Amino acid sequence: MHYWESVHDTTHSCTSKHTTSTNRGCSVIAFNQVSKRYPGGSDVLKNVSFELQKGEMAFLTGHSGAGKSTLLKLIAAIERPNSGSVLVNNQNVSVLKGGALPYLRRNLGIIFQDHKLLFDRNVFDNVQLPLQICGFDHKESSKRVRAALDKVGLLNREKSNPITLSGGEQQRLCIARAIVNRPTIMLADEPTGSLDAQYAEDIMAIFKSFNQVGVTLLISTHDASVLRNKQVRVIELKQGEIQTPPSSSYTAIASQTPDTTLPSQAT
Ligand SMILES: Nc1ncnc2c1ncn2[C@@H]1O[C@H](COP(=O)(O)OP(=O)(O)OP(=O)(O)O)[C@@H](O)[C@H]1O
Ligand SMILES: [Mg+2]
Repeated sequence: MHYWESVHDTTHSCTSKHTTSTNRGCSVIAFNQVSKRYPGGSDVLKNVSFELQKGEMAFLTGHSGAGKSTLLKLIAAIERPNSGSVLVNNQNVSVLKGGALPYLRRNLGIIFQDHKLLFDRNVFDNVQLPLQICGFDHKESSKRVRAALDKVGLLNREKSNPITLSGGEQQRLCIARAIVNRPTIMLADEPTGSLDAQYAEDIMAIFKSFNQVGVTLLISTHDASVLRNKQVRVIELKQGEIQTPPSSSYTAIASQTPDTTLPSQAT
């Protein structure tokens, strides 16, 4: 059994990916009338409401400046809303105090838009960092780091400096760092941003394999081409407002041919 499968309860009663907002018991992320304004600016998010159910994978789209990164930062409590509530696993993260943040973030794997890789240390050490912060012993953390690197196909690069990796490899390194804690929720901000189509497909396949073992994912992209030929849930932001009603936002985009780019089994 793959290490990932051993830590995620895929037998949870809420397994449907197309649950409705009435199925509140399984809601993993819930925005309720959330507005956000940065100091001195106007509203970046306006009355945003949606829910993401356990085991769901959704894409957050919208033009540059639409508020995608801001929305993801609210989930991780990196930013706070001016009004409304953001619930993660039924906990209102909008009001969390500093001491509670590590517990929230232990459940989250975050892939930042600007990577946040550390170039003063090698690939292995970049991935190990979150475990060091949590106080894992060396043996257990080494095992987890190698499993995460293996998952993204970078095991043979563990001693390399991240600067020597290609753009796609750096993206995969960010994924390894995000999954090493074995989070139940993953937030990915433009993970395929500057990649060519093949790299983007590889990364989407990795996300799909996490989703297949029960991880809940919210992935932002301004690049609609990565969604082509996929039946996926799309949450679209325009000038900070949700465009598509959440209940009807499962969208088949130009689905003329079956999607053969995604694995049928988790690896
Ligand atoms: N820390 C900040 N302080 C002030 N304004 C900010 C801050 N972060 C973002 N903004 C503003 O909020 C708006 C939304 O930004 P955000 O980064 O959420 O958009 P985005 O949809 O992720 O865009 P992109 O596709 O370019 O990454 C923009 O107008 C931006 O200038
Ligand atoms: Mg952004």
